[in-house]
Amino acid sequence: MTLADRSITSTLAGTVETFAPDIDRVLISSEEIQAKLAEMGERITADYEGRQLLFVGVLKGAFVVMADLARYVRLPLEFDFMAVSSYGAATRTSGVVRILKDLDHDLEGLDVLLVEDIVDSGLTLNYLLKNLSARKPASLEVAALLRKTDIQKVPLDIRYTGFEIPNEFVVGYGLDFAERYRNLPFIGTLRPEAYRDA
Ligand code: IMP
Ligand code: MG
Repeated sequence: MTLADRSITSTLAGTVETFAPDIDRVLISSEEIQAKLAEMGERITADYEGRQLLFVGVLKGAFVVMADLARYVRLPLEFDFMAVSSYGAATRTSGVVRILKDLDHDLEGLDVLLVEDIVDSGLTLNYLLKNLSARKPASLEVAALLRKTDIQKVPLDIRYTGFEIPNEFVVGYGLDFAERYRNLPFIGTLRPEAYRDA
């Protein structure tokens, strides 16, 4: 754990909800995440200069990465959100994607950047790209903070990737297990007891 991660967990310790005991290990520290998002933000700023970009966030997981990434982009951005569900409380994909909330924007003619927390099997992203490209945006690219490389079931074109991680279930920085841990400032793995108690 880095200093910032430790201070967050120790601030929480002793309160009603304490996360530290549930975390097995910190995979990516908050400093590493911020440094990577700053890099991605620089690239996005350069690539979309002079254009009107719409950030599309996939709720709920992407709300944290979207908020932080957007603040490293020096362009006049617009935002929209979509909510989909591909998982229940379980840690394995069902392969079924449901749209729970659709976008407010009409995408026709817009430059769209889809912001994702994690690409696991790629089934969710594959579905979303098909769905969004049918709405005729001027361009459609993907920024994903995390990508599990070894297990993708479909070939995917992800323009901006933060970190490639092994095939392990992770929480924090927007990612949940049974709706918890989204507010951790780092990406970590859970101790087996945390799954059992859920
Ligand atoms: P995919 O369709 O298998 O690529 O799964 C994508 C979605 O599953 C993500 O947007 C997450 O909501 C969820 N997911 C996949 N892997 C993890 C993980 O390791 N931790 C938490 N959520 C995950
Ligand atoms: Mg989830």
